[in-house]
Amino acid sequence: MSTTEQRVAVVTGAARGIGAATAVRLAAEGRAVAVLDLDESACKDTVEKITAAGGKALAVGCDVSDEAQVEAAVARIAEELGAPTILVNNAGVLRDNLLFKMSSADWDTVMNVHLRGAFLMTRAVQKYMVDAGFGRVVNLSSSSALGNRGQVNYSAAKAGLQGFTKTLAIELGKFGITANAVAPGFIATDMTAATAARVGMDFEEFQAAAATQIPVQRVGTPDDIAGAIAYFTGDAAGFVSGQVLYVAGGPLN
Ligand SMILES: NC(=O)c1ccc[n+]([C@@H]2O[C@H](COP(=O)([O-])OP(=O)(O)OC[C@H]3O[C@@H](n4cnc5c(N)ncnc54)[C@H](O)[C@@H]3O)[C@@H](O)[C@H]2O)c1
Repeated sequence: MSTTEQRVAVVTGAARGIGAATAVRLAAEGRAVAVLDLDESACKDTVEKITAAGGKALAVGCDVSDEAQVEAAVARIAEELGAPTILVNNAGVLRDNLLFKMSSADWDTVMNVHLRGAFLMTRAVQKYMVDAGFGRVVNLSSSSALGNRGQVNYSAAKAGLQGFTKTLAIELGKFGITANAVAPGFIATDMTAATAARVGMDFEEFQAAAATQIPVQRVGTPDDIAGAIAYFTGDAAGFVSGQVLYVAGGPLN
């Protein structure tokens, strides 16, 4: 591919939160962006934000845990936007509970969206990256990968994504493809707002309490994470692969 050709990025779970901020950021850096989420109509706001700023974006409805939907979505993206060579596996869900109360369905849902979803998406996109001799995969891990009460499913999935990332880096490096993980700490989004609601706390109070435990004394924003993801997707990061970057306002591991 010529260096002047516009690169195509796919961001999953991009209707809102970290995914939406990432889609907007990558578009601002000149990428054509597939804004992928469960419901195509929910992607409208993100797409409009990108196009209003002069960028190029396509709304794509797809459940990342469904093999047929993933194959169809990636084929459509290649057809309508061009061959995707940047993939951000960001789609995620929480089904928190203590181990003894966790249902098998809640375990399976979290594994399916985070792990199976990242696997299916990456497998579908990698052939375009191999053909281009260039690729960037960024997987969303979490500080919860280090262990978090009430999240035995989510922490296992987010730790699993770190192993997935390192193995992608090893297998795909020779094709000019890097794979890295960004592991956010507390980021103010609908996901953390839902956690506050679940524990019966006002979201503002929940954030203020979390901020006292964070060295920089604030919670993160979706833009904080979009910046780290943008770094890994850029040309300057071509020798950085298989890494996990905690973006949490302080050291964690
Ligand atoms: N918010 C945080 O504090 C935080 C911290 C660490 C990691 N993360 C991770 O960052 C990512 C984004 O989190 P967020 O806070 O923006 O969450 P969010 O709940 O605001 O957004 C997640 C998006 O993913 C989409 N999604 C869910 N299941 C999907 C599926 N099967 N197929 C396609 N899309 C699907 C949702 O519709 C939603 O638009 C997630 O992987 C999350 O686990 C978030």
